[in-house]
Amino acid sequence: MKLQSATTMLQKAIDGKYAVAQININNLEWAKAALTTAQELNSPIILGVTEGAGKYMAGYKTVVGMVNGMLEELKITVPVAIHLDHGSYDAVLQCIDAGFSSVMYDGSHEPIEQNIANTKKFVEICNSKGLSLEAEVGSIGGEEDGVVGSGECADPDECKRIADLGVTMLAAGIGNIHGKYPDNWQGLSFDTLRAVKEKVGNLPLVLHGGTGIPVDMIKEAISLGVAKINVNTECQWAFQKATRAYIEAEKDLSGKGFDPRKLLAPGYEAIKAAVKEKLELFGSAGKA
Ligand code: 13P
Repeated sequence: MKLQSATTMLQKAIDGKYAVAQININNLEWAKAALTTAQELNSPIILGVTEGAGKYMAGYKTVVGMVNGMLEELKITVPVAIHLDHGSYDAVLQCIDAGFSSVMYDGSHEPIEQNIANTKKFVEICNSKGLSLEAEVGSIGGEEDGVVGSGECADPDECKRIADLGVTMLAAGIGNIHGKYPDNWQGLSFDTLRAVKEKVGNLPLVLHGGTGIPVDMIKEAISLGVAKINVNTECQWAFQKATRAYIEAEKDLSGKGFDPRKLLAPGYEAIKAAVKEKLELFGSAGKA
């Protein structure tokens, strides 16, 4: 199966009342773990790539080449999109050029008029190339790969203005945060989500910060129109924990040589387990 845009997967998710997972990837193990798990569970999947992760993996073209190779060699038949996560203006253009099938332009740090003008331009480009486009209104709190947001709730009228431009999906801040939620977190603002939904109708909404949101809130968010949920930190934690445990257990490496494939194997399995849990929770398993 070739890479595809996220448009059809998300429309099916809206109709079927489930969410497609965006699993952020950082290297070959991450990408392989996400793809093979989606295939085993017969689930669509979106591979998220931040600008930092793109640089780490030797550039966007390398990412596209690696994932395309895996789709063929691992015989992946479920729908897969490669999506730029929180892209700047320039990164969106670079990813489109590199062959990404989906991009996020994050103009939430710009004044709304600038966000609208830039998003409008990307709607035209993406439509002409059959790519999906995510826009953002109201920043997501916390820090991800150097992108810091203070976490305001989105203004529903601004969401409507962006939605009316013809984007494929919209990330609206509703109190969600990247990474670990603080102990005094107030929870998701479902009032904001309802108000946004009322303004944007059937447009798929995106929930960032999918690590650590309680199960009941995830389910409620999906019931109110969230069709894509992003997960990054949870896979990083799973990977780190499994790798540390392996190193602890194998302290004495003298005489054994050093095989990086053995070192990375427990982390790979841990990411697979984390992805499986999310695909089942979000309801996309069995929906490919
Ligand atoms: P977490 O790191 O909290 O899972 O959020 C990921 C995300 O929203 C990527 O855009």
